[in-house]
Amino acid sequence: MTKRKRVAILISGRGSNMESLIRAAQDPDYPAEIVTVVSNRPDAPGLARAKALGIEAVPLDHTKFPSRMTFELKLNGILIERQVDLVCNAGFMRLLTAEFVNRWLDRHLNIHPSLLPAFPGLDTHQRVLDSGAWITGASVHFVRVEMDAGPIVAQAAVPVAPGDTADSLAERVLAAEHRLYPHALELVASGAAYVIDGRVLYTTPGVPLRAAMISPPPLTKSEPQG
Ligand code: GRF
Repeated sequence: MTKRKRVAILISGRGSNMESLIRAAQDPDYPAEIVTVVSNRPDAPGLARAKALGIEAVPLDHTKFPSRMTFELKLNGILIERQVDLVCNAGFMRLLTAEFVNRWLDRHLNIHPSLLPAFPGLDTHQRVLDSGAWITGASVHFVRVEMDAGPIVAQAAVPVAPGDTADSLAERVLAAEHRLYPHALELVASGAAYVIDGRVLYTTPGVPLRAAMISPPPLTKSEPQG
C-alpha cells in the first residue's frame, strides 16, 4: 500500500465525527492515519475522547491569541511540525482566514449537516424543518473561504420524518455523518477523489455512485411497501 496520508482533525466540541474518523483509521488498510487533534476550545469534550483513543490532543485556545492571524500561525506550525498531509474540520467552529484556507487548499475537508449548497451556516436543522423540505442530509466538501462552500466530495441523503424536531433530525443526520466522513476521507486520502477546476473528480466511474449515500437505503421490492 502507498504511504498513508497524515491527517489532523480540528474540533471545537464533542468530537463524535472526529471519533468516527479515528476509528476508521484504526484499520491499517485505511489510507489515512490520524496524527493529531487540535481544539480551539480547551474545554472541548472531544479532546478527552481523542486521548482515550490514543491520539494526541492539543488545546489551542484562540482567545489567548491577539489576532486571528497569530492563532492560525501557531495552528499551521503544529500541522507542519507533524508533517500533516490533510486537515479535517469536524465541528470546528472558528472561521479561518483566506491565508490559512489557501495554504491548505484542496487538502482540507469539512463536514456540514445539510445537502449543500442548501442550508449552509448555523441552525441548519431548524431551518430545514421551517422550509418544509422532506429530504436533508450531510455533505463533506473541500474548504473554501466562504463558509460551508467548496467542491463536494460525498453526500448522504436523510429523510425528514413527520413530527421531527431539530434535535431528532440532528440525531438521524449525525448517524449518517458518522458513516459519510470516513468514506469521504478514504476517497480523498487514497487519491480516488480530487479537485480539478473547482469540482471533485473521481478516478473511476463507479466512485461517484459510492460517494452518494442514502441513509437509510431505499426500500427494495422484497421489503413491505407500507
Ligand atoms: C456535526 O453535525 C457537524 O456536521 C457540524 O457540527 C457537528 C459536530 O458534531 N459541523 P461532533 O462534534 O462531530 O459530534
